[in-house]
Parts: sequence; C-alpha cells; structure tokens
Amino acid sequence: MSFNLPFFPHQASSQAAQVDALYLFMVAITAFFSLLIAGLIVFFVIKFRRRGDDEVGAAIHGSLALELLWTIIPLFVVMGMFGWGAKIFFDMTRAPAGAMEIFVVGKQWMWKVQHASGQREINELHVPIGRPVKLVMGSEDVLHSYYIPAFRTKADVIPGRYNTMWFQATSPGTYHLFCAEYCGTRHSGMIGSVIAMEPAEFQKWLEGGPAAASPAEAGAKLFTDLVCASCHTGAPGGRGPSLFDVYGHEVELQGGAKVIADDAYLRESIVNPQAKIVNGFLPIMPTFQGMVSEEQLMQLIAYVKSLKGPQTGAPGPAQPPAAPAPEKK
Ligand code: CUA
Repeated sequence: MSFNLPFFPHQASSQAAQVDALYLFMVAITAFFSLLIAGLIVFFVIKFRRRGDDEVGAAIHGSLALELLWTIIPLFVVMGMFGWGAKIFFDMTRAPAGAMEIFVVGKQWMWKVQHASGQREINELHVPIGRPVKLVMGSEDVLHSYYIPAFRTKADVIPGRYNTMWFQATSPGTYHLFCAEYCGTRHSGMIGSVIAMEPAEFQKWLEGGPAAASPAEAGAKLFTDLVCASCHTGAPGGRGPSLFDVYGHEVELQGGAKVIADDAYLRESIVNPQAKIVNGFLPIMPTFQGMVSEEQLMQLIAYVKSLKGPQTGAPGPAQPPAAPAPEKK
C-alpha cells in the first residue's frame, strides 16, 4: 500500500508506508474523538441551556454501562495503537541477517561514511535499492541523530557507543539527510543526501571511486601499528586472548559470566579493557581511549570481524594463525 501523500516526503523505503499508515490511523482516531467531543459540547450547551431564572438542574445518578463503555472502547483503541507501533518498532530495530553494513561517524558538523569495500564519502550516502542496508553509527564528539525522512528512519548517534539502524530503499532518487539532534553552532548545516541507486549502478559507483583500503584492511594495519599482535598472538600462551573467530561467538569471562562478542563488546574491550576480562587472562591490557578515533575503532572491529573461517582472514601483516587458541572455546 505505497502511495504518496501531499505534504509528506516521498515514500522511498520498505517501511515508509507502514509508518505512514500508523501515523494516519492515529491522526484519524484523534480527529474523530476531538470532533466528537467538540460537537457534543456544542450540542449539550444548546440542549441543556438555562431557560428560566429560577430553573434548577436535575440530579444525575450516574450510569455503570456508560462508564464501562467509555473506559473499555478507548482501552482497546490505545492498546491497538501500542501493539501496532511496537510491531513496527521491532521490525525497524532489528536488521535482517545478511544486511549490507555501512559505517557512519557523526562529528561536528559532518557525516563521514565508509563502505565495506573501502569507499568513503562525506555528507552523502549511496545505497542500492531492494536490499537491506544496516548502518553502524558512532559519534566522534557529541549527540547527533541520523534522519532520512523519505525512509521514515531516524536514530540517535551517541558518543561512546554504537547505535544501528536499517532500511531497504525501494525507489531510486536523491533524498534529504538531516542531523536531528541539536549539536552545536552549525547543527543546521549538518545535512546531506542519501542517493538510492539501482543495484548495477550502485556497483559501478562503488568501483568508480578512488581505491581506498577497506575498513578491515585499515584495521589490520592499525592492529600492527598499535602492536596489538604482541599480546593477541592468536597462539596458545599469548598474553591476550586470540581474536580469531571471536566475533559473534560467546566469550567466557572471569567469574563465569558469558557475553556475545558483538560490536559493542569489542569496542568496550578496546577503550575500557578492564570492564570485561576474558577467563584465564590477566587485566593487563592498557586502554586505547583517546589513542584511536571513532573511525579507527570501527576499522579495528572490522578487522576482528574478518578473522574467521579457515585461513580467510584479511591478508594483514598481523594475521593470526588459523588454529584458534584453546582458552576461548
Ligand atoms: Cu549533528 Cu545536529
């Protein structure tokens, strides 16, 4: 049920029509009850107006049926709105598996984007249509918010943690991109474009840019530059746990608790290594807070993500051996 409404941005994502349908439903319900109440007020004012100077109103004794009616009907209406809204919220929050991942970093006052192939862009975002795209977003400084009205998606970009959002563009075009969180003097200038393209054209665009190291390759270089490999050797007996095949898997911590090694866990382990110590290791890793930018953090994580499968890790100089260290299993 995709259609374009006057005064509404173009519906250009798979979720846009659902968001609009819920919005219009809520507007219709609100308008109906507002008009009903306003109409009844006017009607009662006229019907029950005072007709004589000595007129006394009749006593009212209440009505259980009426009380129940105007309690139960609104209850169902608002619970319906809640259920419908929650369903759309969950759908919009959880990206489908296999979504194309793109890194976004917000900073005063621009949007920096890096694709998995290495292609970079600023204040623009090129995406293919017909395919789910997941944005992994971080901030270099303060709160920002990534807002694409035509896709009906908006998510805060928060310093110190990752936030994600996903969408599937449905029609090619150039759409507005806004920062929707006041972030300083030039907040209003923190705008850009989202360019949705046919998949073939997108592929051409992706290959057309200047060759840049992919995030995983840049991360491999950082891994060497920061001498991470001196502890994370990947071999048994290393001072730090092997990072091979760790992404997306369960990690046992000191004390027996278990966590899934996701982006947030890896990020924390780099900037605040003492927060979660892997079972069998000592809390000796120094923090890299302030030494690596938000973008470099994403690159390091992309590198760790690439360390999986038999010998298919990114061909970085610091590639750990294929055999996973036994202590993390
Ligand atoms: Cu960034 Cu407002």
